[in-house]
Amino acid sequence: MKLNTFFLIIIFIKLVNSNEYIYGADNKNDIKVIDPFNYDSRENIIFKRIIDNTHLDVFGDDNMNNPFHGLQFLLIWQNQTGRLYTSKNDPIIKNYSWWGCMNYYFSVVPYLSANKFNLVPHLDFKFTFKNNSLFCSKYEECDKRMMKIWDDYFGTISKIKNNNETKSYSAEELLSKMWRGHQIGVEMGSKAFKQIHENSLSKPEMILSNGWLAFVEFLLTLNLNTNKTNIFSLQKSLPHRVLNDNDIYPPSIKDFTYDQKTFTSMIYTMHYISINKTIYNITLKFLQMVSSNENCRLLINNNINSFLNFPFSSILIVLIKIITNTC
Ligand SMILES: *[C@@H]1O[C@H](CO)[C@@H](O)[C@H](O)[C@H]1NC(C)=O
Ligand SMILES: *[C@@H]1O[C@H](CO)[C@@H](O)[C@H](O)[C@H]1NC(C)=O
Ligand SMILES: *[C@@H]1O[C@H](CO)[C@@H](O)[C@H](O)[C@H]1NC(C)=O
Ligand SMILES: *[C@@H]1O[C@H](CO)[C@@H](O)[C@H](O)[C@H]1NC(C)=O
Ligand SMILES: *[C@@H]1O[C@H](CO)[C@@H](O)[C@H](O)[C@H]1NC(C)=O
Ligand SMILES: *[C@@H]1O[C@H](CO)[C@@H](O)[C@H](O)[C@H]1NC(C)=O
Ligand SMILES: *[C@@H]1O[C@H](CO)[C@@H](O)[C@H](O)[C@H]1NC(C)=O
Repeated sequence: MKLNTFFLIIIFIKLVNSNEYIYGADNKNDIKVIDPFNYDSRENIIFKRIIDNTHLDVFGDDNMNNPFHGLQFLLIWQNQTGRLYTSKNDPIIKNYSWWGCMNYYFSVVPYLSANKFNLVPHLDFKFTFKNNSLFCSKYEECDKRMMKIWDDYFGTISKIKNNNETKSYSAEELLSKMWRGHQIGVEMGSKAFKQIHENSLSKPEMILSNGWLAFVEFLLTLNLNTNKTNIFSLQKSLPHRVLNDNDIYPPSIKDFTYDQKTFTSMIYTMHYISINKTIYNITLKFLQMVSSNENCRLLINNNINSFLNFPFSSILIVLIKIITNTC
């Protein structure tokens, strides 16, 4: 073999294996088979296609107001902070990563629904790990109740895109449909990955994850906008690494910034509130009451930074406004 030919083959193999190849080729949506546990595929094919192909006028010229940015952003955060157990040369999300497994319900599962409405091209899934019985890889394999909720979101978007919808939807209404899909994903995922949750996380990381789920329930009650601008304001507050057994008391975590300490303390509090179902239910009922008043809900949504860091005092301020009728 000539040396030139040899180098050409090497270059070809490099191209085929590099990420550039995946993104470049997918410009024409011509990737047809992926491993849904490959981080790059989940980020740059699953999420990118969902976001790009659900671009409606209400999401703005640049699609920045698309609520799926929030879910995509969280996967980026999980990868960068080591929660998916990927490494520089190994982009595979491990099947013992609780965060990565949960995210399947917020990425691959909605993709299957979006595909049903021809919003995104069909994909075949090839898992590199054995025993993938916990992950539905075809629309028909997924829980029907869950798919019905995602179908409501993507079906509505499809009708709007095809000018076959007489009702006009606000971004807020679509957002609340997205949150319902997220909510049932949390419900299903928490059940499916209970064992992974119990076996794979340190105690502080377990507290963080439980608190996170309670926090998400607060956010969906408030119909918090998960668009790009809002979600990026969360960036500086999220822990920059996985919590370990020493991180019992967030205010004293040495390598955390002030914002990270505040946010993590808040999430811990969420966890402690959620343990006592009586207290948790009262808090949630109260939040539902606050957010059924549109002005109050907008007030919280418009002060997103203070709510994310100090949800309890933000809610208290709103409560005072309700009582004094100034919301
Ligand atoms: C994101 O949502 C917030 C709150 O609803 C809103 O103020 C902001 O303008 C939205 N961002 C974009 C890019 O539309
Ligand atoms: C995902 O995380 C791994 C491990 O930290 C890192 O090497 C890789 O660059 C990350 N990928 C992206 C696209 O950020
Ligand atoms: C994770 O992958 C390994 C390796 O393929 C497999 O043996 C194991 O059963 C999988 N675990 C689950 C819960 O799917
Ligand atoms: C496959 O996964 C299921 C569900 O987590 C588990 O009950 C079963 O033990 C696993 N089987 C193997 C061979 O790992
Ligand atoms: C619009 O909806 C109607 C009623 O559901 C249906 O009969 C029609 O085929 C749809 N048109 C398009 C272009 O999807
Ligand atoms: C929950 O909190 C209430 C009020 O403080 C208390 O009476 C109750 O015993 C607690 N329940 C549990 C299961 O800890
Ligand atoms: C809390 O609310 C949930 C859901 O509404 C309900 O199933 C549960 O019984 C309630 N628990 C308590 C202790 O009130």
